[in-house]
Amino acid sequence: MPIRRLPETLVNQIAAGEVVERPASAVKELIENALDAGARRVDVSLRDGGKALIAVTDDGCGMTREELELAVERHATSKLPDDDLVHIRHLGFRGEALPSIAAVARVTLTSRQSGADEAWALVVEGGKQQKPKPAALDRGTRVEIRDLFFATPARLKFLKQSRTETGYTLDIVKRLAMANPSVAFSLEEDGRDHLRLPAGQGDFFDQRLKRLSAIMGREFGENALPIEAEREGIRLSGFIGLPTLNRSTSQLQYLFVNGRPVRDKLLYGAVRGAYRDFLAHDRHPLLALFLDIPPDEVDVNVHPMKAEVRFRDQGVVRGLIVSACRHALAEAGHRASTTVAEGALGAFRREQPGNYAGSYRGSALPRGLSDRGFDYQAPLSGLAGEPLAPDGSARSIDGAPEEPSGPATDFPLGAARAQLHETYIVAQTADGIVIVDQHAAHERLVYERMKEQMAGAGVARQILLIPEVVELEQEDARRLADRAEELAALGLVLEAFGSGAVVVREVPALLGKLDVQGLVRDLADELSEMDQALALTERLGEVCGTMACHGSVRAGRRLAAEEMNALLRQMEATPHSGQCNHGRPTYVELKLADIEKLFGRR
Ligand SMILES: Nc1ncnc2c1ncn2[C@@H]1O[C@H](COP(=O)(O)OP(=O)(O)OP(=O)(O)O)[C@@H](O)[C@H]1O
Ligand SMILES: [Mg+2]
Repeated sequence: MPIRRLPETLVNQIAAGEVVERPASAVKELIENALDAGARRVDVSLRDGGKALIAVTDDGCGMTREELELAVERHATSKLPDDDLVHIRHLGFRGEALPSIAAVARVTLTSRQSGADEAWALVVEGGKQQKPKPAALDRGTRVEIRDLFFATPARLKFLKQSRTETGYTLDIVKRLAMANPSVAFSLEEDGRDHLRLPAGQGDFFDQRLKRLSAIMGREFGENALPIEAEREGIRLSGFIGLPTLNRSTSQLQYLFVNGRPVRDKLLYGAVRGAYRDFLAHDRHPLLALFLDIPPDEVDVNVHPMKAEVRFRDQGVVRGLIVSACRHALAEAGHRASTTVAEGALGAFRREQPGNYAGSYRGSALPRGLSDRGFDYQAPLSGLAGEPLAPDGSARSIDGAPEEPSGPATDFPLGAARAQLHETYIVAQTADGIVIVDQHAAHERLVYERMKEQMAGAGVARQILLIPEVVELEQEDARRLADRAEELAALGLVLEAFGSGAVVVREVPALLGKLDVQGLVRDLADELSEMDQALALTERLGEVCGTMACHGSVRAGRRLAAEEMNALLRQMEATPHSGQCNHGRPTYVELKLADIEKLFGRR
């Protein structure tokens, strides 16, 4: 068969196959063009999921009649003035999008250049261009795409149900809106609003947070930590959620590189690293990160839909994300997300008279605040109205109630007022109640303190006045003695004592009064299950958990008022103390306003 040059319409249809996969990808190209044209508002409307009609209207700089004609020609662009593919300053740079779309659909471009006193319309159907005609348009540009893929029926067959296609489009509009908070966006379909976002006003970071909460949810706005970091000319900013606000997928993790929404495995890996200590492996935080990176450090021309980029130095970018997130999480100290309280309040509400077990477990009840909270919150079993004491009885206050003393309630976690069921500390804050799971909180404190001391001068030890001999199975005693050096680094000094026992001489000071026998036995159990080759520091979370279990604050211990207050003050001063090692909260705060609502006072 002879080699031949393909006709232009066919060439364009082939190119369209790469650029335009579905309505959402066409919308993405049109919005990017609007943003490149300096638009302050972008309105998108769809019919039938975008299969029948996609219309994007902007108030950008517009085009002259001549520019309109050029715009639909392949490789015609206004965005590469000096043939420089490195220093790309616009979202577009190829001059591919409009001709590709026009090759597979019926397109009408209407535009009025700012300052011009007339508007022009140009129609292209299946790549065939008509003559521009005078038209009516106040300003900016309106692009209408009808019958997408009418010219390439094979592609049409791959489209999904309209509702699904609209979902894809909504996602891309949201992503572009997140990156451009000062631009107003709307998405409408058959007269129904899917999205309506006003242009942000004032400080850019306020605008951004507002825009992110509008899209990612109010909880995110209330529980987000700001990120600001720079390394080797690469700037990272944005907001990350507290670990206690988490989901079962990484869908609400967004990355933007120089204003482009991208999907990058590097992000997910880095985020996993940053949150490793605070979340179970199957839970994911919410976040939106924005990288500003010098153009010669990143290649944006590696994906036909520009959905991926390639970094020159992945390591630097990854390191920057991990360290900035970790830093912000450490700064957050004891904060746990407000959704924790919402989950707890929801649980209380479910227990109210009238909501009998049978009725609230059914699906008949509307999804309220409570269910929303539980979507991404480990259930707070004790608080959900289940019996707390082993015998199922409701016990009375067994802590030592104190006279309310003035200033202490000013502390973020308030003044301890009581201990309930020898497990929960109840504290009064300026405007609410805090309930602390004393064991979970202490476990976290031990872990954080241990890490801190290991990184510094070493773990502080306390010499036992009388060394304690612990009788064990021969194997267990040997395993412990073999690890004596590692254990000493963690503050526990012991040695073999005959063949079936160890003698403990020093213990980690941060554990307080300690049940040495119990601790050593549990550690022996843990060692027997642990991979011999693994260093104890690699399992620090578990080891600290075991240690905290035998410290003075474990569940089931009665605490004096000073001990409770000391624990609260330590939590306030300790990074990450708002959640345990698995992203579960260590305390719940209920605001008076919410409690009043529970009792119908509001
Ligand atoms: N909404 C708009 N307002 C003003 N000018 C526009 C608009 N849309 C397109 N243009 C002009 O038409 C040209 C071609 O647009 P097209 O999207 O095809 O290519 P591009 O944006 O330059 O590159 P890319 O293919 O990477 O998107 C643009 O360079 C721009 O000059
Ligand atoms: Mg473009």
